[in-house]
Amino acid sequence: IGKNLHYEETVDSTQKIAHRLAYDDAPEGTVIIAEEQVSGRGRMARRWHSPKYTGIWMSIILRPNISLPKAPQLTLLTAVAIVQAIEELTGLLPEIKWPNDILIKGKKVTGILTELEAESDRINSIIIGIGINVNQTKEDFPSDLEQIATSLLLEKGETVSRADLIKGIFTNLEKLYLLYLEEGFLPIKLLWESYAISIGKKITARTLTQSIIGKALGITDDGVLMIEDDHGKIHHVYSADIEL
Ligand code: BTN
Repeated sequence: IGKNLHYEETVDSTQKIAHRLAYDDAPEGTVIIAEEQVSGRGRMARRWHSPKYTGIWMSIILRPNISLPKAPQLTLLTAVAIVQAIEELTGLLPEIKWPNDILIKGKKVTGILTELEAESDRINSIIIGIGINVNQTKEDFPSDLEQIATSLLLEKGETVSRADLIKGIFTNLEKLYLLYLEEGFLPIKLLWESYAISIGKKITARTLTQSIIGKALGITDDGVLMIEDDHGKIHHVYSADIEL
């Protein structure tokens, strides 16, 4: 991962470029990384604030030979790789909020956006977009993000090397990805659960159409969240925002 690396100063969104490269048969492990995004994309059609030189804004192309319903597994795998890399480099202890937010002391430092190119049930490519707030100061965050977002600099109290963190992520991601291809999702799932905060707790899951309140039981083998509501009914949630 990262051997084929495209580096850009300013782009609209690295996701957009990755889609184009994937369409042009870019090899697995291709990475596109930018210093700044002017229209960074978040989950659920939100924007992702991506100011210059302060964060890691990148998209990674993978081409696993798996069926469509298994795609969320790669998002969970990526979250584990990033948590491990942050922990190794900074000593901070990030946690994962399903499906893919990485938080430190309850504030978001990383978001992951996974997009697919598929033909019928077969995946052609998975594009994993990673946004990490690394060296932003308080003033770098717009006021609406101040309460909910943080950076590694703010949590650690010193500047963190983006190059070292990127290296750590590539190393961990490659290790976990190879493990995944060899042994399947189970070992990844166990690691993911060891970093997850919402499991076993009462949560509210807001999907685009409804809110489900109940206890988060865990994830299925496909990475789908299971919630048990007060009537004992179990809901499978594929995409939602979670509140603890
Ligand atoms: C989220 O909503 O939590 C996911 C945010 C993902 C942001 C990253 S930054 C690099 C890549 N390019 C984008 O436009 N978005 C992702």
